[in-house]
Amino acid sequence: MTPQQDWQRRSVAAVWHPCTQMARAEVVPPLPIARGAGPWLYDYEGRRYFDANSSWWVNLFGHADAGLNAAIKAQLDTLPHVMLAGCTHAPAVRLAERLSARTGGALGHVFFGSDGASAVEIALKQSFHSWRNRGRAEKREFVCLKNGYHGETIGALAVTDVKVFRDAYDPLLMRAHIVESPDARLGNEAAALAAMRALLSERGEHIAAVIIEPLVQGAAGMVMYDASYLRGLRALCTEFEVHLIVDEIAMGCGRTGTFFAWEHAEPESPDQWPDFITLSKGITGGTMPLSLVLTTEAVYQAFWSEDVSRGFLHSHSYTGNALACAAANAVLDRFDAGQLQANAEQAQLLKHAFASLASHPRVAHLRQQGMVLAFDVSEPGLRFAERFHLAARAHELLIRPIGGTVYLMPPYLIDAEAAAFLARAVRLTLDEVLSESTEGSAQTLSKEVHVA
Ligand SMILES: Cc1ncc(COP(=O)(O)O)c(C=O)c1O
Repeated sequence: MTPQQDWQRRSVAAVWHPCTQMARAEVVPPLPIARGAGPWLYDYEGRRYFDANSSWWVNLFGHADAGLNAAIKAQLDTLPHVMLAGCTHAPAVRLAERLSARTGGALGHVFFGSDGASAVEIALKQSFHSWRNRGRAEKREFVCLKNGYHGETIGALAVTDVKVFRDAYDPLLMRAHIVESPDARLGNEAAALAAMRALLSERGEHIAAVIIEPLVQGAAGMVMYDASYLRGLRALCTEFEVHLIVDEIAMGCGRTGTFFAWEHAEPESPDQWPDFITLSKGITGGTMPLSLVLTTEAVYQAFWSEDVSRGFLHSHSYTGNALACAAANAVLDRFDAGQLQANAEQAQLLKHAFASLASHPRVAHLRQQGMVLAFDVSEPGLRFAERFHLAARAHELLIRPIGGTVYLMPPYLIDAEAAAFLARAVRLTLDEVLSESTEGSAQTLSKEVHVA
């Protein structure tokens, strides 16, 4: 047995892999990765794979980035962790200040969590509790968008509309309103806003918040929409006194072309920002788990009291972990040093490299928003995502389509050579997979195909 096979066997026996039907993992065992460097991952047999989805959208600067590692190592020797209740530390304070500054001070208060879903839980709780503290406890309902995804803990799942994750737990979930989502392929932004208006005018008195993914609904299959929807939604939430939670966990940190995706809405004053922004994933560049919620002075003030129970008594052990905050500060240093400009250039390289794919007879809706590129495959066939994922490995590509949608969210390390490599590997894989004969429709695992 090779080391590669040995790790596979031991992993399937001992590790319960996330979002995976483990019976399937026996058939298609996980890919053991020995090390990473830049955009490349290496297995135990020396084969390499370009991490085209930045390892679940987190590794913004690839793997084992020397600058991020140095920041963490320096923090490790100073203060790896201290609890954030009753204590504080410079990396957390600096990070909060810097993120607030990136909203022009509109969202000046930062609450730390760990994974993305914990930030969503925090935002939902803060919204409800702030209304309650203001004497409006009847505002306890939430609104999310059709096919939206916000995580898999019980609260986050309640505002997630992805069947495969939701159905088993449906009896446990609070009831959220699910409203038509905007989709540029359908050009329905105005209709989606009209549907939101109808709901808010009817139930606004009982609704605490609307939660959305800005510009791109990731897990839905990289569904992109126009920023006019964001502006329209902000106006509706203001009109009907409903909080707006903008979940930037996937699309924040420069992914869409601006640091916060919300910036595409071109806010001109603090009241044109959301009431809450959630961030995670890329904020530490794939080094340490960290999430956070930014919110406004108005929300913060609703908790300000002599009465302890009016405070936000929520915590996680690793809240504001110093190593994670140090990594996040190192990520922000990159943006201070011009990362957005670099991303704009890299997005252009991707655009040119993939342009010819638009005329492929089985490719529809080739689309791009900054460093997210996606296309739909017509008649993809049974288990398309799994077959594509496996076939791509032979072309040194680690990629995981969502149903019949192939997408790239690569590390911000794209040069002309990398763009050409990706376009070629994707096309070769596509042609290979489409030439296999299968019957039936694509497997509808909505977020990813959860095999190795
Ligand atoms: C928009 C969005 N929100 C929340 C989450 C949940 O984050 P996590 O998996 O870190 O809990 C994700 C994860 O994919 C996401 O894409």
